[in-house]
Amino acid sequence: LAAEHPHRPRVHYTPAENWMNDPNGLVYHDGEYHLYYQHNPEGNAWGNMSWGHAVSPDLVHWEERPLAIPYTEEEHIFSGGVVVDHDNSSGLGTDGEAPMVAVYTSAYTERSEHAGIQAQSLAYSNDGGETWTKYEGNPVLDIGSGEFRDPKVFWYEEGGYWVMAVVVADERVVHFYRSDDLLDWTKLSEFGPAHATGGVWEVPDLFELPVDGGAGGSKWVLVVNLNPGAVAGGSGAQYFVGDFDGVEFTPDRLVTGDDPPEGEVFADFENGYGDWEITNDLDGTGTEGPFGSAPAAGTLPGQQPVDGHRGGHLMNGFVDGDAPRGEAASPAFTIERDYINLLVGGGDNPRSDTGDTSVNLVVDGEVVRTATGRDSEHLDWTAWNVSEYRGRTAHIRVRDDASDGWGHVLLDHIMFSDAPARSGLENYDWLDHGRDYYAAVSYNDAPDDERIMLGWMNNWDYAGDIPTSPWRGAMSLPRRLELATLDGRPQLVQRPVDQLASLRGDIAYSHDALPLDGGERRLPPRAEGEVFELDVELDPETADEIGLTVRQDGTTGTVIGYDARRSRLFVDRERSGDVGFNSAFPSRSSVAVDPGATLELRVVVDTSSVEVFAEGGSRVLTHRIFPGAEATGISLYAEGGRGYARDLSVRPLNPYRD
Ligand code: FRU
Repeated sequence: LAAEHPHRPRVHYTPAENWMNDPNGLVYHDGEYHLYYQHNPEGNAWGNMSWGHAVSPDLVHWEERPLAIPYTEEEHIFSGGVVVDHDNSSGLGTDGEAPMVAVYTSAYTERSEHAGIQAQSLAYSNDGGETWTKYEGNPVLDIGSGEFRDPKVFWYEEGGYWVMAVVVADERVVHFYRSDDLLDWTKLSEFGPAHATGGVWEVPDLFELPVDGGAGGSKWVLVVNLNPGAVAGGSGAQYFVGDFDGVEFTPDRLVTGDDPPEGEVFADFENGYGDWEITNDLDGTGTEGPFGSAPAAGTLPGQQPVDGHRGGHLMNGFVDGDAPRGEAASPAFTIERDYINLLVGGGDNPRSDTGDTSVNLVVDGEVVRTATGRDSEHLDWTAWNVSEYRGRTAHIRVRDDASDGWGHVLLDHIMFSDAPARSGLENYDWLDHGRDYYAAVSYNDAPDDERIMLGWMNNWDYAGDIPTSPWRGAMSLPRRLELATLDGRPQLVQRPVDQLASLRGDIAYSHDALPLDGGERRLPPRAEGEVFELDVELDPETADEIGLTVRQDGTTGTVIGYDARRSRLFVDRERSGDVGFNSAFPSRSSVAVDPGATLELRVVVDTSSVEVFAEGGSRVLTHRIFPGAEATGISLYAEGGRGYARDLSVRPLNPYRD
């Protein structure tokens, strides 16, 4: 271990070398948990997609196995699932043994007769998942689409047949199919588009879970991964709770994303720019500036309909080549309410270093707040708390400082309000509110009917630039899922699997009630470490904010904080170590938590990740971080009053590998 790259995870799975993305073929069989995964056997970047393979007796100790299903020149092996065909319904078993059958997506290359098509294919193993043979009749399900992928197959007990959930990614639709033998598939129904649609839908999953341990009956959960357009930006996983009757999935609730706050409309751009002042040539070069292209209602040039759109926009950008700088400024106003809520879309091009494109609040000539959109395909609320500027004169401006013309912002609506608007995306259900939990999918046939899920700890926003070698990509900890009634409806609750306990060392530090009274309180050296589990109950008492910083040295650290005034839990990795490899990486993610008195957290820190499970696992935030190896400090803080870190304990986690 000592000779390894300092960011090679010790309690999370990574291959020893080369690229990895989605988990595939998660199945428990004969005492082994199999983890197949999207893998490039020849390099540390995405490509040559094949299935890598690892096995574990307990979901914690992983052993890498030989490449399972290699790509060919005609066919790349995209994501999919594995089932154990217990009754040999497929006839692919030998000697009366149950075969393992992989249902994967064939992504055909230009060398194939099916060039441009994605279709579902089978491979089978009669040696416990080690070696695989492709089925001769492949593909088994082809609808002539180039975006048809990521089948997840399971045995539907009530009906006595196999069910497949699979996406048509660009249409944001899940298709359901059934089969008696895994070879012939009949379409049952479709679900979608629904809820978050700001990106393609990928990697679906469908399973049944008891509600409140069975006291509330059971419900079906449909997981849909989405990229980009997730709640924390870029890739993420949303889910729907509902019923599956063997044919159709029906969600219990569908909400509209748009959640307009109460308040006073300051600008809506329904009728053009009103009395806003447009300066289209800040550089004075005499060239036409970036503002002025107000798109037709609901559309962006050449793009998808804009989600949550309600009328006109003030917009700039989409100018090719060199663009002059410009700005649009509102008339001056006096700040009289606590919040300015803005409906914003678009975004800065992460690949552009020439300057920012953003919406700013200017008070006395100084920029005091900034907002940008999440992505180009939908609008979302941003809430500025401006209570400290009450009574001051201000104006809002949209400014394009990028000279390469790629950044763009859409400003749809501005409201002066007494409360913050919630992002429309926050009205939906998400598996994780951090930036690095994608392609999440669950195990088939896990013992004791447990539902165990894991995801790729990454985000397509910057996955290719993650600064590790000779491997790139890591899996999350496996999580056990349950449905619990929260806020009057069943929601997913997730905890790291109990088996993680086998890696725990002795408690290195604990405290019943550590008082925090302004400033930071660093824990003693015996608490410090690179890889550990920390439990705490944050009691803000009179503080506005209370939290902790992990993987800390003099200048860097990852902050996990509870903003008690706004009842939000956040993870801030803006100064977490190496953040410069991609400008989309530094970020602060947050989630609404119960306004209750204390916030209970379990934090699992590895060499290059932080997973935060809050409120018994009903809120989760997962992030990669790249701190220096010497950044091992842990400290706690409270701001604006006195708080307590209660029932605090820190224990080292031992590596699963030698
Ligand atoms: C998700 C995904 C899948 C696809 C695979 C290709 O991350 O794009 O839709 O099957 O990765 O590697």
